[in-house]
Order: sequence, then C-alpha cells, then structure tokens
Amino acid sequence: MPEVKVLFVCLGNICRSPAAENIFRDFIDSEGRPIAVHIDSCGTASYHIGEPPDQRMQDRLKAHNHSCQGCARQFKQADFDEFDLIIAMARDNLANLQAHARQPGDSSKLRLFSDFLPDSAPRDIPDPYYGGTKGFDRVITMLEDGCSGILQTLYERAKSE
Ligand code: 4NP
Repeated sequence: MPEVKVLFVCLGNICRSPAAENIFRDFIDSEGRPIAVHIDSCGTASYHIGEPPDQRMQDRLKAHNHSCQGCARQFKQADFDEFDLIIAMARDNLANLQAHARQPGDSSKLRLFSDFLPDSAPRDIPDPYYGGTKGFDRVITMLEDGCSGILQTLYERAKSE
C-alpha cells in the first residue's frame, strides 16, 4: 500500500490539530498492522508559528498517555500538492482551507474531522483555547474517537485497492 499523507488543520496549530496529529500517530504506532502514513498538522493562522503545543494540551495529552511533539506552522497552498487527506477540525477551518483551493482536485482532499465521528457527534471539534481543563479533555476524547474512524477508513481503502 502506498504511503498516505494526512494533514490535520485548526486555527493556531497549538491545541486541536497537534493533538490530533499526536493521537493519530500513537494509534498507528501501537496498531502493529502494516500501514504507511505520513502525519502532520498546521494552522490557518500565523499567530503561533514555531511554538510548541499549548502547555495545557501538553499536560492533558500526557495525562491521557499520548505523545505531544511538534511545533506550529501555517497552512500553505503547496500542502494541497503534498497531502492526500486534509482534515479540518471545525467548519470555520474548512471554509478557510476551501478559500485557498486552486482547483477541484484541491477541494476533493478536504474533510471535516467530524466526518469520522458518529452522526450524533457535534460537527465541530470545539476550540479549547479560552476554556479550562475539561474542554481539553473533551477535545482529546473526540479526537481519539475520530482517529479510530480515520484509521478504519484507511484500512478499508487499502483493502479495496
Ligand atoms: P487551536 O486553538 O486552533 O486548536 O490551536 C487556538 C489557539 C490559539 C488561538 C485560538 C485557538 N488564538 O486565538 O491565539
């Protein structure tokens, strides 16, 4: 199976998308099934370029036994060429990405993270930046659920190829 390249995108790339990147990589690493995936994350905004994940997200990811690596970068149009699947955390992030699409092929790579959650789940992964610990924990639980869904989708895609 050829390598699949997955990019998670939020606003600042210090809370939701780096958490998704780390959780998804942890899942892949612990699965033991042969699947080649390149995973990255970025933000649509430039506020936090070069910064590590927010300290609160680092603490909560650690508490949930997840890794927490990476430093923030901003989305660039070349990401449409580099990645196969570009997953926005919320509808405002998706709209920002859609505004950068140059052609239908770019748009066809875009997904909303909640596409990989049950229909009953909220459409957006809530922005935890201005809230407390509970908000970070809730985001982590939603990301764990959705990352399982993404992994399942990739396995099914690989089986049908
Ligand atoms: P993220 O959260 O998009 O999940 O990384 C935010 C980080 C920073 C800001 C907003 C949301 N900010 O306004 O600086």
